[in-house]
Amino acid sequence: MSTAIPTEAAAKLDLQAEARKHLWMHFSRMGSYSETNEIPIITRGEGPYIYDDKGKRYLDGLSGLFCSNVGHGRAELGEAAARQMEELGFFMIWSYAHPRAIELASKLASLAPGDINRVFFTDGGSESVESAVKLARNYHRMRGNGQKMKHIAREVAYHGTTLGALSATGITSLRSQFEPLTPGGCHVPNTNLYRWPEDRESTWAADAIEERILFEGPETVAAVILEPVQNAGGCFVPPDGYFQHVREICDKYDVLLVADEVICAFGRIGHMFGSDRFGMEPDLITIAKGLTSAYQPTRALIASDRVAEPFLEGDASFSHGFTFGGHPVAAAVALANIDILEREDLPGHVLRKEDEFRGMLEGLRDIPIVGDVRGAGFFQAIELVKDQGTKESFNEEESEKLLRGYLSGELYKRGLICRADDRGDPVIQLSPTLVCDTEQFEEIHDVLRPVLTEAAKRMRG
Ligand SMILES: Cc1ncc(COP(=O)(O)O)c(C=O)c1O
Repeated sequence: MSTAIPTEAAAKLDLQAEARKHLWMHFSRMGSYSETNEIPIITRGEGPYIYDDKGKRYLDGLSGLFCSNVGHGRAELGEAAARQMEELGFFMIWSYAHPRAIELASKLASLAPGDINRVFFTDGGSESVESAVKLARNYHRMRGNGQKMKHIAREVAYHGTTLGALSATGITSLRSQFEPLTPGGCHVPNTNLYRWPEDRESTWAADAIEERILFEGPETVAAVILEPVQNAGGCFVPPDGYFQHVREICDKYDVLLVADEVICAFGRIGHMFGSDRFGMEPDLITIAKGLTSAYQPTRALIASDRVAEPFLEGDASFSHGFTFGGHPVAAAVALANIDILEREDLPGHVLRKEDEFRGMLEGLRDIPIVGDVRGAGFFQAIELVKDQGTKESFNEEESEKLLRGYLSGELYKRGLICRADDRGDPVIQLSPTLVCDTEQFEEIHDVLRPVLTEAAKRMRG
């Protein structure tokens, strides 16, 4: 007997009640939902907009979760998936290959910076980071440096949730409930330029990486993992020369540099690879969300020729993999997605429009709660403060009242999906689909201005 729910029956299901009964929502306070506080149910998407089960339209100012780069409802991505399902629905890339995985690997190698040419497919961003951690250890071991097993990441950075990736994540509240984590994760200051101590040199944050390598012992450090623009904490951009200095430090101590581009790649900050925006020269790049604009879940770790080399000789192999890695349907969708990004020059569109988008957000600085506006491309954040002059931030209780007690609900009610986040200091993050233009920037403004003005009043009162 078929257990599939026919569409008609699904339509009759009380989705609210069933979701509250059966759906385990990720990172969600499930107990906060009730008959009067409904779970938002999103049923379809079109371009920069999504619609809920009551037909209400929202501007997707977060691209799903920094994913839907080409926008929603692209039928050609569905067609690419359907064609591939008919041709070859699945085969693995464990000792076999298939055309779509080969084509996608070749395409990614042609787009990635420098000699980053060897593509290892995974199923998730956390898996890509996890794979980078394992590959870095394995690489050094194969070259006779088996003690090199630590990885350095930045405070407040989010690199995923599996135990290895979580050891790179620098958010205490996400780590503490699951300790002990995979050993080896160490953390250094991030590049929050808004809160950068005044007397510090511009190389301070990069120098901190060298100090940490020396503290740990260079013979024990395998990799440094950095996002081109750090998401958690609110779109921290690097100071000038940061990545060049980090590269020199990594070379000096034989440490691999990993660019975690789970968010920054595929046009988000105006380039196919975020590393290119800052002249970052990584040895490994993790990619995920925008690879398929989230129409299919597939991700990858891409390695430089130098890192791949020890694994290509004799009977060597990287003893690591995932059943669905390089899935043909996902690979077909990724190729079609990259084709859209190139054909419509969406990275170029982001570069042409980022000043306008940023300018709109900068225009909100007269609202007393707006402390900082920062980011790159279509990846921007507004840091919220108690006092613009002193930059005093909100305490935990105030932040709870501000974000969960008002902002998140109010922004959603007014039809804007964005992220009100306090994993670092409180911020609102905006990461709209790359098809957004003046009309959507104005819509974002028209929601943010009254909501932030009211938030400022409430927090003062
Ligand atoms: C920079 C970065 N790395 C890793 C991850 C983990 O990706 P996933 O949620 O696909 O496991 C994320 C997710 O947002 C991310 O932003």
